[in-house]
Amino acid sequence: MIVSEPTPITEDGVSAAVDAALAAVASATDSASLKQVRAEHTGERSTLARLNGELRNVAPDQKASLGKLVGQARGRVNQAVAAREQELVVEEENARLAAETVDVTAVATAYRPGARHPLTLLQERVSDVFVGMGWEIAEGPEVESEWFNFDALNFDADHPARAMQDTFFVDPVDSHLVLRTHTSPVQIRALLERELPVYVLAPGRTYRTDELDATHTPVFSQFEGLAVDKGLTMAHLRGTLEHAARTLFGDEAQIRLRPSYFPFTEPSAELDLWHPTFSGGARWIEWGGCGMVHPNLLRAAGIDPEVYSGFAFGMGLERTLMFRSDVQDMRDMVEGDIRFSQQFGMVV
Ligand code: DAH
Repeated sequence: MIVSEPTPITEDGVSAAVDAALAAVASATDSASLKQVRAEHTGERSTLARLNGELRNVAPDQKASLGKLVGQARGRVNQAVAAREQELVVEEENARLAAETVDVTAVATAYRPGARHPLTLLQERVSDVFVGMGWEIAEGPEVESEWFNFDALNFDADHPARAMQDTFFVDPVDSHLVLRTHTSPVQIRALLERELPVYVLAPGRTYRTDELDATHTPVFSQFEGLAVDKGLTMAHLRGTLEHAARTLFGDEAQIRLRPSYFPFTEPSAELDLWHPTFSGGARWIEWGGCGMVHPNLLRAAGIDPEVYSGFAFGMGLERTLMFRSDVQDMRDMVEGDIRFSQQFGMVV
């Protein structure tokens, strides 16, 4: 136990203790340091508390005046501590609010939303048109065997049509693999894989050794249609294409078929599309190829061409997007600039 020397109570002693306490209070800069100051200058071991204790020992005639002296001194210090505490609470609250301030006028970090590619959207739109007629979606590989890409489609080994296609051959040449030059090989795959009748749409990527320019790209897309059933005629082909054209381009759209040649169809036709609001005015544009499935294809798939007949068509998706959405330059479709896709929103 610490036994302190009795200290006589003097006015100077009291006022020195008060001065020291007030100086300490004034220099406390936060609640934590003020707490310390309060313990030091008003607590049981503070000078003033000790002086208060001394009152027990003073002569009775001095008790009142010294009691008042010490009491007032303690009162002043307590008051100063309380006042400073009040100030610090306000200061600290203000500092906290300042630190937590949210600048509602600040410019937000702009996250640019992504967008689906218009070719993807259009491919889904085209698929919807055919699914809406009860057709199914068929797929085939983009690295395709030469046999599916050409031979099974009735291209002779030295057929000029085979040379017409600017084909990417896959190394080594004797792998007999190519990047498919059209979606027509999916016709053969569908006939081999499916039960009759067959009504399939095969959209997908295709490849040719073209230079990239405003109207060509070595990687492009087609959508291929194939229907094989009993009693199908060119009238069904025409009706189907007309429905697709009107659903995709609007009721004013018209189609026409011009005689042509493809090894996998007989007869074959070029499909043209007319619309009053095409850029460049109302005009016919070449949209794709079509025809009645060649009996050789049916036979190769084990189907009797005397019982079943079919029609087929193939269109370029990029061209379709150009006419439908007035895109002038195919390069915009492959460059991957998000601003191009954003113009279309989520609907083509
Ligand atoms: N495969 C042909 C091409 O890429 C397009 C085509 C023509 C597809 C006639 C067909 C068709 O299904 O019947 O040039």
